[in-house]
Amino acid sequence: MTDQTLTLAFGADHAGLALKNALVAWAQTQGHVVHDLGTHGTESVDYPDFAHPVCREVESGAARFGVLVCGTGLGMSYAANRHAAIRCALVSETTSARLARQHNDANMLALGGRMIGEEIAIDILRSFLAATYEGGRHDRRIAKIAPQP
Ligand code: RB5
Repeated sequence: MTDQTLTLAFGADHAGLALKNALVAWAQTQGHVVHDLGTHGTESVDYPDFAHPVCREVESGAARFGVLVCGTGLGMSYAANRHAAIRCALVSETTSARLARQHNDANMLALGGRMIGEEIAIDILRSFLAATYEGGRHDRRIAKIAPQP
């Protein structure tokens, strides 16, 4: 169990299903509230159909953080980062997961279900959730990420 209970939203396509389910199960063991927005089956689906609803939960505050899983994590990250209020970090190791929170105030993670194993993915999510945004100079840089014409 963690000392801080969070609401986490999860989404995956067919290629991310197994890893998403593993992360959902882990998050529940930690005491977090889980919103599993699918997919729930192995049939082929389109990753943006699952990315956008998770982003909306984070944007609305219904979830504090979102986690997206597809085959590479790439498509999910592209879709998520079209949302102005979303900073979705595609990572495959724990240092980037920690820095995504500390320096970039990331509010979503994208993971590749065909790229990394379950144990690494759980370590990534644990590192992401344990880290705290440092603010300061990073506020200015994040403000400059704003969509460009
Ligand atoms: C599905 O085959 C695959 O393209 C998708 O999961 C993802 O990797 C896209 O970025």
